[in-house]
Amino acid sequence: MTDRLSLAVARGIVALPEGEVLVLGAVADSDLGALDEARTRLLWRYHDAHLALAARGWNSVRKPGGPADGVVVFAPRARDAQRAYLRLAREMSDGPIIVDGPKTHGIDALYREIRQRADVSEAWSKAHGKVFVVNGGDFSDWPEIHPAKGADGWWRAPGVFSADGIDKASAFLATELPLKLEGAVLDLGAGWGYLSRAILERDGVTALTLVENDETALRAAYRNVEDDRAAFVCADVRTWRPDQPVDHVV
Ligand SMILES: C[S@@+](CC[C@H](N)C(=O)[O-])C[C@H]1O[C@@H](n2cnc3c(N)ncnc32)[C@H](O)[C@@H]1O
Repeated sequence: MTDRLSLAVARGIVALPEGEVLVLGAVADSDLGALDEARTRLLWRYHDAHLALAARGWNSVRKPGGPADGVVVFAPRARDAQRAYLRLAREMSDGPIIVDGPKTHGIDALYREIRQRADVSEAWSKAHGKVFVVNGGDFSDWPEIHPAKGADGWWRAPGVFSADGIDKASAFLATELPLKLEGAVLDLGAGWGYLSRAILERDGVTALTLVENDETALRAAYRNVEDDRAAFVCADVRTWRPDQPVDHVV
């Protein structure tokens, strides 16, 4: 865990907004030390992060709720998800957006990109990353975080696995699935449901449970897999267990 944001706040380089703060992109080890829990709303996306944050004493919410006085964005790795969080942040608040991210997530490029459309502070560099504050700006042409239907008819969302199209390995796996599958099947790490649909093409499948850590991907899967045999579970497969024994696991 880095303490970049905490240090920036402690040293007066960044001021957290007065009032309600919405936090986007928090993961298990995000630096929340400077935030006041009583006026902070953490939006969770990954189930394992939700559990890890809970273990650290932080409640996280599934929906962003009403307007906030400011937003903290922990920049994710995927560029389209970074943009989607900036868009959501500006939709949720007219106040400052504090962005924290490591170089490995392309924070320098994000900084340059935001600077072309908003009033942005100097970037404070620490621990192989940057913190900066965004005021104003129009991000309404950046993607929404919610699933959207692509030209190929599949629903996907920023930051999901293979967000731009069907993954070649998944397409290969779909062709390699046994033609005959029967009974109850688990799709572990189902993503936005590409393989699930192929599994459900087998008439012998009586039930399919899609288990996925990324709640946004699972919401896309819900749109892609319209089948009464399908059930959707947002969980970490490392700890999740089915109620009943199953016949196949994909
Ligand atoms: C390589 S992708 C495959 C997605 C889908 N099965 C396909 O072929 O298009 C792996 C998926 O597993 C999910 N995943 C990774 N770790 C997980 C975990 N511990 N529990 C549940 N899902 C996980 C990822 O979010 C991702 O959607």
